[in-house]
Amino acid sequence: MTHDGKDAVVCDNPAVGRYELFVDGELAGLAVYTLSGDTMTIPHTEVQPRYEGRGLGARLAKFALDDARRRGLRVVPRCPFIAAYIERHPEYADLVVG
Ligand SMILES: CC(C)(COP(=O)(O)OP(=O)(O)OC[C@H]1O[C@@H](n2cnc3c(N)ncnc32)[C@H](O)[C@@H]1OP(=O)(O)O)[C@@H](O)C(=O)NCCC(=O)NCCS
Repeated sequence: MTHDGKDAVVCDNPAVGRYELFVDGELAGLAVYTLSGDTMTIPHTEVQPRYEGRGLGARLAKFALDDARRRGLRVVPRCPFIAAYIERHPEYADLVVG
C-alpha cells in the first residue's frame, strides 16, 4: 500500500513536545519542538524509512508551521528539512526568527 500523506493523521503531543504522524494507527513520523516564550524551535524531523519519499515529511512540516501561525508563534527551523520546506513555501517565511 502506498501513502501520499492524504490518509495520514497528524496531531500535537505537547506532553513530549512533538507533532506525530500516524498511518494506519502506526507512528510513521514526528517533528520535535521546544517552546520558549513566543518562539517554537524545531530541531528534528523524522519519517520512518519505509514511509520516506511520500510527502509525509511535508505533511508534518505544514502541520507544525500552520499550528505555529495559529498560536502566534515565531519559528526557529533548526531542522534542515523544515528550513528547506520553508524555502520552497515562502508563505511561511514571515514566521522565521531572524
Ligand atoms: C528528512 C525526512 C524527514 C523527509 O521525510 P519524507 O517524508 O521522505 O519527505 P517528503 O516525502 O515529504 O519530501 C518532501 C520534499 O523534501 C525533500 N527532502 C527530503 N529530505 C530532505 C532533507 N533531508 N533536506 C531537505 N529536503 C529534503 C524531498 O526531496 C521532497 O522534495 P520534492 O517535493 O521537491 O520532491 C526523512 O527523509 C527522514 O526522516 N530522514 C532522516 C532524518 C533526517 O535527516 N531528518 C532531517 C534533519 S533533522
